[in-house]
Amino acid sequence: MSAVKRRTWATWSAAILGLGMLAGCASGGGGQAAGDGQLTLGFSQVGAESGWRTANTQSIQEAAAAAGVDLKFSDAQQKQENQIKAIRSFIQQRVDVIAFSPVVESGWDTVLKEAKTANIPVILTDRAVDSADTTLYKTFLGSDFVAEGRKSGDWLVKEFGAATGPVRIVELQGTTGSAPANDRKAGFAEVIGKDPKFQVVASQTGEFTRSKGKEVMEAFLKSQGKIDVLYAHNDDMALGAIEAIEGAGLKPGTDIKIVSVDGVRDALQALADGKINFVVECNPLLGTQLMDLAKKVAAGEPVPPRVETEETVFDQQAAKAALPQRKY
Ligand code: AHR
Repeated sequence: MSAVKRRTWATWSAAILGLGMLAGCASGGGGQAAGDGQLTLGFSQVGAESGWRTANTQSIQEAAAAAGVDLKFSDAQQKQENQIKAIRSFIQQRVDVIAFSPVVESGWDTVLKEAKTANIPVILTDRAVDSADTTLYKTFLGSDFVAEGRKSGDWLVKEFGAATGPVRIVELQGTTGSAPANDRKAGFAEVIGKDPKFQVVASQTGEFTRSKGKEVMEAFLKSQGKIDVLYAHNDDMALGAIEAIEGAGLKPGTDIKIVSVDGVRDALQALADGKINFVVECNPLLGTQLMDLAKKVAAGEPVPPRVETEETVFDQQAAKAALPQRKY
């Protein structure tokens, strides 16, 4: 579990950001665009692996344009070394603030120390790092992934409350070593672990992509006996798995119950159609909050150490109601 999650600080909601700061907030660093000049933000994105990621990138690009921020955007294509290169390039360019969504949790201390030495504040967005030294970044903006895993488990426990026999679950994990994969697995295991009838019979990475979700589900269907439930760490893998289940002549949502995380349009449509049973939301629309935080840290203003986005859950009825307005 990352240091940012271990903190005992209260979690401030997005709303608090606009209302001034509470005592005990982490202090911002001295950015160079604190005066009248345009703020330059270097942002290293994970890649383009999912519908969630596409919506997140769009949100950040649109919010930067709306806030008059000069955004230097870099796509790491799922590689930590590309993110480290991008961060070093931002340092060389003397951007005012660096933000990034770390592909994995570990291995960031050296490059984060370089940013700190250069006096360039860093914001973690979406995913956390496990650095013990929490002074290496100013704040984290994103979701509580452990809570998302717990919500998925809570639904399952309720759904199978009356079942007596073993409930055989297969799990499609996100990118190995990433915060959402680690935390969604842990939160889910914590909840279902209270009743031995829930058995995770197979668990493997589907890399947060539709194609890999399909491929791994096909293998699960061949290697496992009866499968009662699929828990997918994101919607794209669930959507790929649906193709595999249908290909095997089974009915997704009926023969195999499906719970997934994100809440992208295609998954809400599948939920409305009865092919997914429950979706836990993970909000990708972080752009506006990121620009607010970047301006604050550049100006040396205090910011909360952790800013969590508000999220909901969807059953079939809620999905049908949400679909007409869903933006992504
Ligand atoms: O870090 C957030 C996760 O990354 C989303 O759940 C997933 O879809 C994405 O690729």
